[in-house]
Amino acid sequence: MTIAAAELDSREEALARVAREAGELARELFSKPIEIKLKGKQDYITEADGQVERMIVERLKERFPGDAFLGEEGGASGNADALSDAVWVIDPIDDTANFAHRMPHFCVSIAFLSAGELALGAIAAPMYGELYRARAGRGAYLNNRAMRVADTDIKQAVIELGWSSRRPTRTYTSLVERVLATGATFLRAGSGALGLAYVADGRTHGYCELHINSWDTLAGLLMVREAGGWTNDFLAGQGLERGNAVLACAPGLKDALVAATGVGQANEKLERRIS
Ligand code: IPD
Repeated sequence: MTIAAAELDSREEALARVAREAGELARELFSKPIEIKLKGKQDYITEADGQVERMIVERLKERFPGDAFLGEEGGASGNADALSDAVWVIDPIDDTANFAHRMPHFCVSIAFLSAGELALGAIAAPMYGELYRARAGRGAYLNNRAMRVADTDIKQAVIELGWSSRRPTRTYTSLVERVLATGATFLRAGSGALGLAYVADGRTHGYCELHINSWDTLAGLLMVREAGGWTNDFLAGQGLERGNAVLACAPGLKDALVAATGVGQANEKLERRIS
């Protein structure tokens, strides 16, 4: 069941406050010596991830005890019955590798889904003093400025291509080759959430990754849509629980990038159902 507008208003207000506060905590922890571990190949976890996530979940649970929560580190918690109605999806630090290596390109990303649809998103990039936010149907903002995607010729486009060890290396190198063949260039700055926020703000023109988790993407996907961009149907199948491929871009680049990346083709859902 979709939640009422007034209930969404209070969640929107709480989200901005909690995202800002979580960003501040992450910034404080960034300057301290911190324990770093590997969860998998090039997949980092620090003490800060757990601390920031616990803080976010505690604050939001206090205000909205009937909601469900899905966090990168803590998994599912809260009211399990609300999983299909009111769910917060939280990445305490994205990209943890940048954070662990003392690089400032990281953020806190929080999304809220109402009845399975993206309703709210916030991304705090504390080292840059940036708070990105979006509400479905009401636009996307960076601090207090409205964001807009930047359409450009594919030959002038900058496309971020995310990487993780969850997919074989050759699928990434082949993706890079196919995107370069369109005439666009590519970069990999590390944070999927910030990569999507940059598309929404017209700094880059597209973001693609062959597998990414929902906590890394949902807030940014709402921002791209609200800023006039196009995104694939990330939540199709079990996107929320298991992640999916993602493609988000300025609308004029959609055809070229769908063809080059293979993400977002009309038959994609069907293929996923069959496999
Ligand atoms: C990672 C980052 C990275 C993306 C990976 C994610 P984490 O998230 O978002 O940009 O390419 O797929 O796993 O582990 O740093 O939160």
